[in-house]
Order: sequence, then structure tokens, then C-alpha cells
Amino acid sequence: MSFAISLLTGTRQEQYDQLADQARGLLAGESDRTANAANLAALVYHSLPDLNWVGFYFHDGHELVVGPFQGLPACVRIPLGKGVCGTAASTRQTQRVADVEAFPGHIACDAASRSELVIPLVHGDTLVGVLDLDSPSVDRFDELDQRGLEAIARVFLETLA
Ligand code: SME
Repeated sequence: MSFAISLLTGTRQEQYDQLADQARGLLAGESDRTANAANLAALVYHSLPDLNWVGFYFHDGHELVVGPFQGLPACVRIPLGKGVCGTAASTRQTQRVADVEAFPGHIACDAASRSELVIPLVHGDTLVGVLDLDSPSVDRFDELDQRGLEAIARVFLETLA
């Protein structure tokens, strides 16, 4: 099987709708968490502009541990409540950070990262982990990006058994 990344077209909302459709197609019929996280990270990283890291951290019951991603090698373990990822995990609220240098406790894995969007992954009542996106541009993510990527995160959560 080969998978071509299709160019997203239309308004930004239409592009996110297309990306969610592509994600659904890519993950259809598969419930393996690692496989789906790997393919979703690759899809998002190669479909959206101006990103330097897209990937997953999974909750091991104690802290966050890096999962499948695209980008430079990253910090392996992040305690809940620490950094942007740990804050998203402990509050279960999406963290949209326009300037990571202004975020107290931001963990600099890739020095190129300037803004960050971290979406908590909650399945039922269980914290599964977070989906983390980094950009080399300040203020890369707006409200529409947040909603669009939260929809992508839901596609991932719906595949979990
Ligand atoms: N910057 C994140 C750490 C993860 S990396 O960006 C891949 C944070 O502050 O939690």
C-alpha cells in the first residue's frame, strides 16, 4: 500500500475538514495505538505548513513518555504539570502557547520551537496522553488551528478500543 499526501484546498476550515477525512481513512479499521499515532503524526507533519515537531506523549500511569513523532529527537519523560505538555495533561485543557519563551516551565526539546499547541487525549475518563505540535514561528496556531487539530485528536481517540 502506498499513501499520497493530498494537497489541502479551499478555506482553512475546509482544509481541516479534508485533513480529518484523510485521518479517518488512514486509521480506518486499525485500533493499534502505536500504529495510529505514528501514521497520524506523519500525516499532520507532512500536511500542515510551518511545523518542526508533531507527535504523541503517552501517559504511563505516572508521567508522560514520548511516543511516535515526526521531527528531531525529543525529551523522553515529562512529569504531569511540567512544561506545556505536562500542563495540558494535568489540566486536561488544550494549551495554545503563542510564545514558548513566555510560558513558565516550557521544556525546550527542539531549540527551534517558538510556539506550541498541545491537546490532551482523554478516552472516557482516562488520560491517554497528549498530541503536541511545535512551530518555529511565534503565534503559529490560532483558534481555528486549535479546533481543527482537536478534531484530528478525536479521530485518534475514536480508534482506541
Ligand atoms: N515543549 C514541550 C516538550 C515537548 S517537545 O516540544 C517535543 C513542553 O514544554 O512540554
